Formats: sequence, structure tokens, C-alpha cells
Amino acid sequence: MKVKLALAGDHGGFALKEAVKRALAEQGYEVLDLGTDSDASVDYPIFAKKCADAVAAGRADKGVVFCGTGIGVSMAANKVKGIRCALITSDEYARLAAEHNDANMIALGGRFTTEADALRYIGIWLAAPFGGGRHARRVAELNEM
Ligand code: RB5
Repeated sequence: MKVKLALAGDHGGFALKEAVKRALAEQGYEVLDLGTDSDASVDYPIFAKKCADAVAAGRADKGVVFCGTGIGVSMAANKVKGIRCALITSDEYARLAAEHNDANMIALGGRFTTEADALRYIGIWLAAPFGGGRHARRVAELNEM
């Protein structure tokens, strides 16, 4: 059973979100698209919060947020209790975000990430198991904040 993924982002991440959405649907994922729905300028905190709220409430298993750099949406998503959102810029970060941080969301920069890289990062992140042990203690400490 594949996880249900929520996606959201601003205009800077719109093109990448659309490409990722199509590809994930083709791969058989259930995708919840929470906007934005065009490349017209919008504010990234609003869309990051929509995605983070969906994950925190269990309406999706995990989330991916998009903006120009990925920085703003990652900051906004991490304001929501229960969210651990990692900005991903490499295969290694994608793996470690799962293994060490049990990231339930990732952030991608639409102006700096190719579609192929984005899909590979998502695949690595979803496939990598959480390491547990000392990482579980640290994640519990994060969850208390
Ligand atoms: C919008 O121009 C841009 O600031 C936004 O997409 C994002 O990169 C912010 O972190």
C-alpha cells in the first residue's frame, strides 16, 4: 500500500509541483494537491500550512512542499506541531531526512531542482527506513517543542 502524499506550494514551486504530481499519480500514489493552482504570485506560508495541517491531522501520510528555494515553505511547515520538514538538495539529504529525522515532510526548491532530481529525492526519502535508537530520542525531543 503506497502512502498518501499531500502537495502544496507557491508560484515559485508551481511548475515542479505539477510535474511531480503527474509523475507520482502515474506511479500509483494517491496525491492530495492543496494548491496553488497557477503561477500567479501567492504567499508561501499559506500553502505550506495547508500541507502541514493535512499531514498533522492525518489527512495525508506525508507531505511535499514547494517554493522557489524550498526555504520558506520548510520554515512555515515546521511551525506546525508534529511536522518535521526537511529541505532536500541531494540524494544523501533525502536518505538522512528519513533515517535520522523521520521527516514527515520534505521541501523542494522549484527554481533549483529538476523534475528528475525531485522524483529521485522523493523516492529515496519514502524508501529509507527511520533508524530509531538515538534518533528516536532526538525526534521525541523535537516533537515536544
Ligand atoms: C517567491 O518569490 C519566493 O520568495 C518563494 O518562492 C520562496 O523561495 C521563499 O522561500
